[in-house]
Amino acid sequence: MTLERRELRPDDIAVQVNYCGVCHTDLHAVRAHTGRGGAPLVPGHEFTGVVTDTGTDVTAFAVGDPVAVGNIVDSCGVCGMCAAGQENFCREFPTLTYGGTDRHDGTTTLGGYAREYVVRDRFAYRLPTGLDAAGAAPLLCAGITVWEPLRALGVTSGTRVAVIGLGGLGHLAVKLAVALGADTTVVTRSAGKADDARRLGAHDVLVSTESQQMDGARDRFDVVIDTVSVAHDLEPYLRLLAMDGTLSQVGYLGPLTVQATDLLIGRKKLSSAGSGGRPATAAMLDFCAEHGLTADIELLPSGRVNEAFDRLQRNDVRYRFVLDLSDL
Ligand SMILES: NC(=O)c1ccc[n+]([C@@H]2O[C@H](COP(=O)([O-])OP(=O)(O)OC[C@H]3O[C@@H](n4cnc5c(N)ncnc54)[C@H](OP(=O)(O)O)[C@@H]3O)[C@@H](O)[C@H]2O)c1
Ligand SMILES: [Zn+2]
Ligand SMILES: [Zn+2]
Repeated sequence: MTLERRELRPDDIAVQVNYCGVCHTDLHAVRAHTGRGGAPLVPGHEFTGVVTDTGTDVTAFAVGDPVAVGNIVDSCGVCGMCAAGQENFCREFPTLTYGGTDRHDGTTTLGGYAREYVVRDRFAYRLPTGLDAAGAAPLLCAGITVWEPLRALGVTSGTRVAVIGLGGLGHLAVKLAVALGADTTVVTRSAGKADDARRLGAHDVLVSTESQQMDGARDRFDVVIDTVSVAHDLEPYLRLLAMDGTLSQVGYLGPLTVQATDLLIGRKKLSSAGSGGRPATAAMLDFCAEHGLTADIELLPSGRVNEAFDRLQRNDVRYRFVLDLSDL
């Protein structure tokens, strides 16, 4: 279908979208969308492209600049969270790239499964030279969502990190943790992913369905990043934490039941995170450029989006689908 983008405001840029990652959140959103109310759903919140026009006040970008856009496109700019560079936690809630409400005209935002996007300049990021534009697209949601907790939890050389679930978020968590120097372990249901995990840099692999392996890894990790996309019992993963360790639940974001004693024994902490602030997003892109780090992707013509969804649903992706929108 044909989408209308808004006329540029003084601080807007127009982006020709070339590549957009297929996040599991897009799949959740499409499956939950009823079409009631008439608003279309256009998913897509991790994309890269090129600036094609700039608003009158824009100084940071020029036509032709390669840029990247993630899963938030505006925030209030004045609350404590925004002042601290954590626009992702804005007290007024950040404007989501799709399915959000534009702060000026109240319209529903439409995402990056499109040839063009119009975005406030502050929420576009210069794509560093040297990063492959298709492989970099998933950094803007999957990457930043795991980068912020890794950094906030002080992951550095020698930190013992376990990543639960080797999918889009998980494989980038592994690459980023390894690049930060962490002693990194993948915990997966899929024994067939063990070789991939090691190729991605993981030092060890635990198959979560093998109780002996899980028992043997009890109390071993300082940080657990849980990217599992469905509701699940946290107990087996909390058991992996060492004393004072933290489990960051970034995958499933619905209600959870936790036994307090699973936290009590070992004074363990349960946390969460999502998306990232502007400074952290820019820092992550610089870090990725420095380390030559992008997602492992399967690039598909945009018309094969339903195939991407079906395969993502079946856990048949290694490790992120990216749509090529230049064919629109
Ligand atoms: N916090 C945020 O802001 C944020 C941002 C982006 C995405 N998300 C959410 O994060 C989740 C992961 O997204 P993604 O794009 O990385 O998805 P994905 O590529 O499908 O990866 C999810 C992984 O979870 C594991 N998994 C799936 N079903 C499972 C089950 N029943 N039991 C145990 N493990 C299971 C699988 O890993 P193995 O095969 O290795 O077991 C799978 O590869 C989604 O729910 C998404 O909505 C949150
Ligand atoms: Zn996402
Ligand atoms: Zn704010």
